[in-house]
Amino acid sequence: MTVRAVLRMGEPLLLEKARPVTAFDTPELHALIQDMQDTMNAMDGAGIAAPQIGVSLQVVIFGQKELHGRSNPRYPDAEQVPYTVLINPTLTPVGDEIEDGWEGCLSVPGLRGVVPRYLRLHYIGFDQFGEPIDRLVSGFHARVVQHECDHLNGILYPMRITDLNKFGYTDVLFPGQDIQDD
Ligand code: NI
Repeated sequence: MTVRAVLRMGEPLLLEKARPVTAFDTPELHALIQDMQDTMNAMDGAGIAAPQIGVSLQVVIFGQKELHGRSNPRYPDAEQVPYTVLINPTLTPVGDEIEDGWEGCLSVPGLRGVVPRYLRLHYIGFDQFGEPIDRLVSGFHARVVQHECDHLNGILYPMRITDLNKFGYTDVLFPGQDIQDD
């Protein structure tokens, strides 16, 4: 179990375009994903991208695998998103419907903002064994994928905020709710 340090906004690597993975099912790739999983779970995150732990590769993980019957305490009302390893993803919006929703990020601790995202999304990519992934999703699942895959293009959610009146410190925005960093 290795919980890695998460890079914070301001770190140049977070602004880089990540490189595609060229070899699947390797010890190095499995070790990277294990570290990402340990780090995400330790922080109750909805997802994490490899660049956030300093590895500029097109690998993201998101969703919940082992919650022992409970929902993510960070997102108790969010619909369940299956635990997914997504590598070399391609995202295609389905329709042009946009939905606003609050987001946070492990790389932007203590803050939350309202981010417009495509409501419906088609995404393809590969898992860690090189098996293809092809899904049509909506709502929170679509939001999480868009947020995580933005990290692979050097985009952090504050760059997507269109109304900066809806961006602030979590404990000020949601007093008494004990919402942790994303
Ligand atoms: Ni993030």
